Amino acid sequence: MSDIVYLNGDWVTGNNSKVSVFDRGFLFADGVYEVIPVYQRRPFLPELHIQRLQRSADAIGIAPIATEFWHQLVLDLIQRNDLDDCLVYIQLTFGADSQRSHLPTQPLTPTIYASLSPLRVHWNTPSPVKVAVLEDIRWQRCDIKSISLLGNIMLKREAAKRGAFEPLLHRNGRITEGASCNYFMVKQGLLYTPPADHLILAGITRTWVIQLARQLEIEVHEEAIDVNELQHVDEVFLTSSSREVQPVGQIDDIIVGNGQCGAITAQIAEAFHASKRHLIQE
Ligand code: PDD
Repeated sequence: MSDIVYLNGDWVTGNNSKVSVFDRGFLFADGVYEVIPVYQRRPFLPELHIQRLQRSADAIGIAPIATEFWHQLVLDLIQRNDLDDCLVYIQLTFGADSQRSHLPTQPLTPTIYASLSPLRVHWNTPSPVKVAVLEDIRWQRCDIKSISLLGNIMLKREAAKRGAFEPLLHRNGRITEGASCNYFMVKQGLLYTPPADHLILAGITRTWVIQLARQLEIEVHEEAIDVNELQHVDEVFLTSSSREVQPVGQIDDIIVGNGQCGAITAQIAEAFHASKRHLIQE
């Protein structure tokens, strides 16, 4: 964790930051969040992350906050702390009321909290992991980066029980995403990923990977993927701000390809590492 966190206009040590028990985030998970990777003290794709934060806030009805405020907050957090590679965490809730009430009893000032946590950056493609297919039990607005993560956490626990790194979720047989990542599949040289509709979070890493793949002249299809297709895919990888491009070698008992990182996954992961190097050298 960062030593210095931001809470409602104050810079304080994490231990000294206090939020009211009447905060709607605490009582109702009435809030949204964002996670931004930082490499060598430089935020990676901050514009896209801040746009998504604004979209999430807008979707739940929190009044807009200036984009410049968020950009400055990210820079100040990095500057006040001692972490070179880290994840910025920003949480925005509807704010604290004077009692527990499903609807606010008065106009509230949003609670803004931000902190850093260390990030283990991959400069080489990490070893493939196992994932577990599970039914997606979450709500229908997964496009909002809500702080209500109970469904995600339950699914992550179930996957861990099965010895898997992440769940690979499906809704009525259609693949959605992971508990905290997006999925890509390679079949016969083409790249497939579920569409960015309301059933998944449109990951920033996902967006970036699609762009990199197109630059590499790999054809990308954002379309529905049937869970039965998993038997026939050549490569699978997952993406997120903390995992970057993570190859998948096994899905339940099925070994993907030969269980190693596939050629297209490796090509995309290398392009991803190159974009981080580029950011640092700018
Ligand atoms: N999670 N889908 C879900 C449900 C997520 O929680 C995340 C990210 C992603 C990938 O989004 P991005 O590429 O923008 O990180 C997809 C973050 C890292 C978290 O909750 O910590």
